Amino acid sequence: MTKTVNLPGGTALPLIGFGTWQLRPKTAYESVRAALEIGYRHIDTATLYQNESDVGRAVKDSDLDREQVFVTTKLRPQDARHARRTLESSLRLLNTGYVDLWLIHWPTGQDELVSTWQELLSAKDAGLVRNVGVSNYSPVQIDLLTKSSGQQPAVNQIPWSPAQHDPALLEEHRRRGVVVEGYSGLKNTDLRNPVLTEIARRHQVTSAQVVLRWHLEHDIVILPRSSRRERIATNYELESFHLAPEDITAIDSLTRIG
Ligand SMILES: NC(=O)c1ccc[n+]([C@@H]2O[C@H](COP(=O)([O-])OP(=O)(O)OC[C@H]3O[C@@H](n4cnc5c(N)ncnc54)[C@H](OP(=O)(O)O)[C@@H]3O)[C@@H](O)[C@H]2O)c1
Repeated sequence: MTKTVNLPGGTALPLIGFGTWQLRPKTAYESVRAALEIGYRHIDTATLYQNESDVGRAVKDSDLDREQVFVTTKLRPQDARHARRTLESSLRLLNTGYVDLWLIHWPTGQDELVSTWQELLSAKDAGLVRNVGVSNYSPVQIDLLTKSSGQQPAVNQIPWSPAQHDPALLEEHRRRGVVVEGYSGLKNTDLRNPVLTEIARRHQVTSAQVVLRWHLEHDIVILPRSSRRERIATNYELESFHLAPEDITAIDSLTRIG
């Protein structure tokens, strides 16, 4: 059972999610089925990924109760003017009455930031989504949304990896009570880096597991994506080891920020 973090409304968000970007229909279906069999209970999709129906079918066919799986989808900014219609389409494709988290995929133009956020909040009020958040937003943009509505995004989904590690940015989110979901942590890492391979060797795990475990040590939600069952499984096996403080510091030092 994966650890979870509580979102403001009380929903438990599993810290390990399964990413589905670039997974085409058949692979998306098979990979999500595999992920759910292995134990993942959090699936991340988006209108942009064009695989919502495959994700929905995989969740249905898994025989898990809908309530047991945390499903996120995302609104493209270009769909902001018909946000409700886009959400209804996502729900139809996902074959569900609600999603657990609906994100704005990346910022709209400045003049539409607040009105789009209002659309998300109104979908939440209507019970179509349990939680709302953003992706690729800056803390300043998050503050604008919070000030305009009195309601802050539950989550900001942003790129995160050892090379992009930014403690100050993490602290900005923590201070606001916004959960950080990190994306592309494997893709943006050289898994042959000797710092990672040495730590992996000592713990008898893979470099990918070290990178993913490092995110968890920083309480960052991860969304590893793979189309290979063996990797889907090992990317989820992160509870059998912990990184020592000096391992974490060594990986933090791989950052190219600042
Ligand atoms: N909000 C946004 O703007 C945004 C942007 C990007 C991503 N995301 C979300 O975050 C998720 C993750 O990001 P991502 O898909 O960009 O990249 P990722 O999960 O960091 O990396 C995926 C790549 O790593 C490989 N891989 C997976 N496990 C591995 C392992 N154990 N060892 C070696 N290689 C491994 C995969 O290849 P194989 O399939 O061959 O294993 C794939 O090429 C996405 O799927 C999406 O859900 C969101």
